[in-house]
Amino acid sequence: MGEDVIVAEGLVKRFGKVDAVNGVDLSVPAGTVMGVLGPNGAGKTTTVRMLTTLLRPDGGRAVVGGHDVVAEPDAVRTIIGLSGQYAAVDEYLTGRENLAMFGRLYHLSKRDASARADELLERFRLDEAADRPAKTYSGGMRRRLDLAAALVVRPRIIFLDEPTTGLDPRGRMGMWEVIRDLVRDGATLLLTTQYLEEADELADEIAIIDHGRVIARGTSDQLKAQVGGERVQFTVPSPALVPKASAAVLDVTGETPEIDTETSTVSAPVREGTRSLVAVVNALDRLGIEAHDVGLRRPTLDEVFLALTGRKAEDGAVER
Ligand SMILES: Nc1ncnc2c1ncn2[C@@H]1O[C@H](COP(=O)(O)OP(=O)(O)O)[C@@H](O)[C@H]1O
Ligand SMILES: [Mg+2]
Repeated sequence: MGEDVIVAEGLVKRFGKVDAVNGVDLSVPAGTVMGVLGPNGAGKTTTVRMLTTLLRPDGGRAVVGGHDVVAEPDAVRTIIGLSGQYAAVDEYLTGRENLAMFGRLYHLSKRDASARADELLERFRLDEAADRPAKTYSGGMRRRLDLAAALVVRPRIIFLDEPTTGLDPRGRMGMWEVIRDLVRDGATLLLTTQYLEEADELADEIAIIDHGRVIARGTSDQLKAQVGGERVQFTVPSPALVPKASAAVLDVTGETPEIDTETSTVSAPVREGTRSLVAVVNALDRLGIEAHDVGLRRPTLDEVFLALTGRKAEDGAVER
């Protein structure tokens, strides 16, 4: 891995009484993807806006591509691409016109701007829609156009603020493909997301942010391991059997199981892997409960968030 090209140390931003960002530390090695994962209101956008020079930090420092974001904002701006919730796409212009306009904004010649627009339209699968106004685009197409606009000058450091929020599954998959392409080309990416699955899928390293602080960081595997490794899980044939099965699991594992009442699925962390699994199966067997889909699995990132914060990642913003 290369050296860190995005570094944040103790970043702070307050809006009146709201501590939007409360001492965020991040470091992103060159050519890797950092996933900043957190619920609505966690401080993701505010962090990205400070790293991309759009907001001045109230405390801490950040260095992007070797340039301090406060001391050398212009130098930072020329080497980064930003795509996100403050999209600059003009919806009355066509996709092609939008991209050409960005090229001109970045001082490309008319011909270079037009060639670059063609290239990006094709790469982002917008060539067929290239000559339609952006306001006729689907959500996924607009996001791709927004990202393409951020890439006009081939930045090596790219910030994506919730690139797939609000997209349907197909739009999301399309965006993931585009993001994987960028990574293959060697770009360094910082992407924010509310989707645990998305961070799991795309990021080399994940920073979980909550109330303006990084509360955990690591690879997806490390985060999962941090919350207790494997879990035993099984489903019982009827909801009526859940209490009995849960009691058996508590007895064997010493842990109060989590229950999905809709599917009558019971799960609990285990310390001894297969040995615990066998013990649970035997206990159910003694009770005459025929469980199915019995197995060991790693915790999901949702469970990681729950374990770290005591609440689900979907809970909203919290203010002081
Ligand atoms: N310009 C602003 N003025 C006042 N409060 C703000 C402003 N921008 C963000 N906030 C508040 O800061 C907190 C973090 O917001 P934000 O960084 O947008 O979170 P996220 O992007 O993770 O959803 C939220 O409580 C939000 O309401
Ligand atoms: Mg945001």
